[in-house]
Amino acid sequence: MVEVSVFDRIIERYERSEESLLAILQDFQREFHYVPEEGIRRLSEVLRVPESKIYAMGTFYKALSLTPRGRHVVKVCTGTACHLKGAPQILEALERELGVKRNGTTEDGEYTLECVNCVGACAMAPVTLVDEEYHGQTRASKVMDIIRKRTEE
Ligand code: FES
Repeated sequence: MVEVSVFDRIIERYERSEESLLAILQDFQREFHYVPEEGIRRLSEVLRVPESKIYAMGTFYKALSLTPRGRHVVKVCTGTACHLKGAPQILEALERELGVKRNGTTEDGEYTLECVNCVGACAMAPVTLVDEEYHGQTRASKVMDIIRKRTEE
């Protein structure tokens, strides 16, 4: 449970208007790695915007997540080009190495493993994104090296 004051500290950075909604939600996302339900409730009270509208934004914008995500997000492109160049093998190996199923988050909250559709870099297939950074022509072992380095940072 997050203290209300933590949300207030973020909300106070912005003008109290509906136009600030997205920026505040992005800050929630950065701070907690997702948009907590209590944060939505508080934002609704302070900005006087219906919770349903905030939830709609939370589901519309891909950069926002309404469920807890890991500190690091690993996305495996499973579009056609990447599929043909070995994305399923990368995905399986990452599931094994991280001990989490696709679209799941590790118990320690470090990693979320996701499958995504074509990310528009087919020439670099197979593509994996680690914290929104593109890595092309990858293998699972290379992705694991990148992940390990991130964890040490
Ligand atoms: S299919 Fe993976 S980048 Fe296009």
